[in-house]
Amino acid sequence: MENNIYNPDYVKGLFNRMSSSYESMNFITSFGFSIRWRRQFIKSFTPPNYKAEILDLLTGMGETWKSTKNKLPNSNLTVLDFSEGMLQYAKQKNRQHYNNEIIVLQQDILKNDLPSNYYDFVTCAFGLKTFNDEQLTILALETKRILKVGGQFSFVEVSKPQNPMLYLFYSFYLQRVIPILGKLFLGSPDEYKMLWQYTEKFENAKNAMAIFARSGLDTTFSAYFYGCATGFYGQKSKS
Ligand SMILES: C[S@@+](CC[C@H](N)C(=O)[O-])C[C@H]1O[C@@H](n2cnc3c(N)ncnc32)[C@H](O)[C@@H]1O
Repeated sequence: MENNIYNPDYVKGLFNRMSSSYESMNFITSFGFSIRWRRQFIKSFTPPNYKAEILDLLTGMGETWKSTKNKLPNSNLTVLDFSEGMLQYAKQKNRQHYNNEIIVLQQDILKNDLPSNYYDFVTCAFGLKTFNDEQLTILALETKRILKVGGQFSFVEVSKPQNPMLYLFYSFYLQRVIPILGKLFLGSPDEYKMLWQYTEKFENAKNAMAIFARSGLDTTFSAYFYGCATGFYGQKSKS
């Protein structure tokens, strides 16, 4: 298990199995904070005066779309995920609320066929933790490849807070309470236990940020609600 949890087939299966309950559990897991963090993590973006191309990586069911469209209304949005279970709901959302205007791609970001130097903005919410360092290096290089020079990016992920009291409370909640809620309401405690295992190993976004910086991207660290989520944002300043 230890070595397999970063295997893309394993991760895909996990999200396929969670897809029917992900949205409600996501809300409960973070006491609704995740909605706020999805708004906050793109605050650094400066909207351009032309129609921007945005790519939302690991889009899930489209949880970031609303905040992205609010921040960058004059834009084309392309989204990517490899889980057909999650994308089934994303496509439904696209039909019902976005007039099918969002381009939905089912691809593995680590083996994608996205165009180079194309996107003005790359976003990614709550997708970093299921990658190991080798995969994070590919993710960083791919982010650099697909962004235009001057293009901006932002990543955010649930993290282990530094404050010991907050850490105790948060880990108890995520590790013990969430799987019980998952079992009670959704019949699937194991998948939700896994999310905490990923967070335990991930700790915070500092390591991922260092990997992105090494790939040649400008990066700035960000922390949300005393470190319960962390991330980084920045720019591709040169090719
Ligand atoms: C925790 S969910 C995040 C969903 C959404 N961005 C949000 O804000 O809630 C992570 C998503 O990443 C997707 N994913 C993980 N690894 C991937 C990969 N290598 N390529 C494409 N999608 C991937 C999963 O299928 C899942 O839908």
